[in-house]
Amino acid sequence: MKRLAITGAGGMLGSDLAKLATANGWEAVGFDLPNYDITDPEHLQQIVDAGDVIVNCAAYTNVDRAESEPQLCAAVNAVAPGILGQLATAANKYVIHVSTDFVYGDLTEQPQREDDPVKPLSVYGKTKLAGEQNLLDSGCHCSIIRVQWSYGANGANFVSKLAQLAAERRELKVVSDQVGAPTWTIDSARAILELAHHRPHGVFNFAAAGYATRYDVAKLIVRELALPVTLTPCSSSEFPTVAARPLNSQFNCAKLEQLLDFSRPEWQVSLCQFLSQTMVKI
Ligand SMILES: NC(=O)c1ccc[n+]([C@@H]2O[C@H](COP(=O)([O-])OP(=O)(O)OC[C@H]3O[C@@H](n4cnc5c(N)ncnc54)[C@H](OP(=O)(O)O)[C@@H]3O)[C@@H](O)[C@H]2O)c1
Repeated sequence: MKRLAITGAGGMLGSDLAKLATANGWEAVGFDLPNYDITDPEHLQQIVDAGDVIVNCAAYTNVDRAESEPQLCAAVNAVAPGILGQLATAANKYVIHVSTDFVYGDLTEQPQREDDPVKPLSVYGKTKLAGEQNLLDSGCHCSIIRVQWSYGANGANFVSKLAQLAAERRELKVVSDQVGAPTWTIDSARAILELAHHRPHGVFNFAAAGYATRYDVAKLIVRELALPVTLTPCSSSEFPTVAARPLNSQFNCAKLEQLLDFSRPEWQVSLCQFLSQTMVKI
């Protein structure tokens, strides 16, 4: 049985990936803090030794806190992927590294392609971009999958936060000037397993099909959960954050679509399925 070594296996994406990999005939071996720290090269060596394919889902993901902890954020998101790449090259192992729409910035209003110019707006985005580059520079056989607007059962995310707020309030303002595609971690995990199967080299975008604003997402949640709340669209400037966020998170996913053995689900379809499975928790 082929072994998939997964870092960040206790996180939102890593935990869904471990489950899905096991269901698809992989032996999934999970690693996470506090026992395994990807900034420790000895731990990374053990992780590389444990898998035929290594999937790096570990990351410093607190986008706002990253602005005041740039060194820790860079150690995890930028430096560690480069060392992982060196160790995997020496061991002749394939690596799949998870990255983000935050590498792009807002240089265009069009759906973004993998080879578009990038200009990340935050420490988090800059360190994720440096991590991609360090991994590629290591000469490692690898793919980088950029995901976005992730939600899943095992982690705090904007879908569960919106659902929580909508359940608690009579009126809720939601930003309507950020556009992307809410993407279920189960769907991203399926795409990662396709990469593990085909082992292409390079950078790939992945998101659910279609585009939405945060306000559109809130409307669907409220409709599906029949919540008695009035939603009002507003601008991001009404909710200032420590770290800047891109307004345009639209992906062009044509490159990865050629490899997938499934059609990317429309964002509404996966979100409804997710809500019906997790409504009890909300
Ligand atoms: N969430 C999103 O909306 C989103 C969007 C685009 C891209 N991504 C990317 O998707 C990937 C998966 O993130 P996620 O959504 O699953 O976030 P997550 O739930 O925060 O998972 C990240 C995992 O990495 C672990 N981790 C942090 N520092 C580590 C270290 N030094 N060594 C080992 N493990 C460490 C975390 O542990 P602790 O919880 O103990 O810190 C956590 O279990 C990341 O590459 C992220 O950048 C996420």
